[in-house]
Amino acid sequence: MSGSVSSKKTSSCCLPLFSSPIGRKWIVALTGILLILFVIAHLLGNLSIFLGPEAINAYAAKLQDLGALLWVARIGLLLAVFLHIWFTISLWRENLAARPQKYAVKNDLQTTVYARLMRLSGLVVLAFVLFHLAEFTWQAFTPEYKTWVDEQGRHDVYRMVIAGFSSPFVTGFYLLAIGLLAMHLSHGIASLFQTLGITTATMRPLFEKGGRAIAWIIFAGYVSIPLAVFFGILRYPAAACSLCR
Ligand code: HEM
Repeated sequence: MSGSVSSKKTSSCCLPLFSSPIGRKWIVALTGILLILFVIAHLLGNLSIFLGPEAINAYAAKLQDLGALLWVARIGLLLAVFLHIWFTISLWRENLAARPQKYAVKNDLQTTVYARLMRLSGLVVLAFVLFHLAEFTWQAFTPEYKTWVDEQGRHDVYRMVIAGFSSPFVTGFYLLAIGLLAMHLSHGIASLFQTLGITTATMRPLFEKGGRAIAWIIFAGYVSIPLAVFFGILRYPAAACSLCR
């Protein structure tokens, strides 16, 4: 069996959790839960943009004020992303090696379009996060953003977001990536309940529908921001911001 072959390869160096396929699935599921919690928390923070510049700039300044704690959270998040990807690849390679002995009965969860797109959607979301960090956190594409402060001297995140989504290409990429994120979560949420052994035959449809509902609520929340900029609901006085539409 390929599982026992790979167990032999890793058990000498690693904890039992890392060496068994079930242990690795648990790591993917638990890191997945952490990432989903981040996505929800980040969305709630971002939605404060609808309350105006004061709300989102104050929220961003409070986050920065967390100092060392913010760095602990960032490192934890980075570690979760790394483990999530590393063990997904490890399980995928194991499945490929075991192909000739594939299970005769396929699990329903594994046959949906979303399930087949898990690796592709995960990759696009990863590329998106790197682009997103470069755009808003490192401000690498528009160094001017670093100089934007509001009347209270805080970083003007409101203006930066409006300027960012004033580009139709950036907005288009966000819509695509957030759509793929929703597809990823749609399958991922139901799948993680199954991995953790919480799913029963009667509960499965509930977890599948619930997972899909959560994923598409997250989608609606995130896309509401670029769309609100696109349709002029969120705006910045054009005279004061040459990069804003
Ligand atoms: C409309 C959609 C989004 C908006 C408007 C938005 C906005 C922002 C802003 C303004 C920052 C920089 C905060 C600061 O440094 O003051 C940020 C950081 C970040 N965003 Fe987003 N975001 C969006 C979607 C997403 C999504 C879908 C993800 C993940 C899949 C994500 C992941 C992150 C991460 C990891 C950071 C860095 C956090 C840190 O280290 O401080 N964002 N986002």
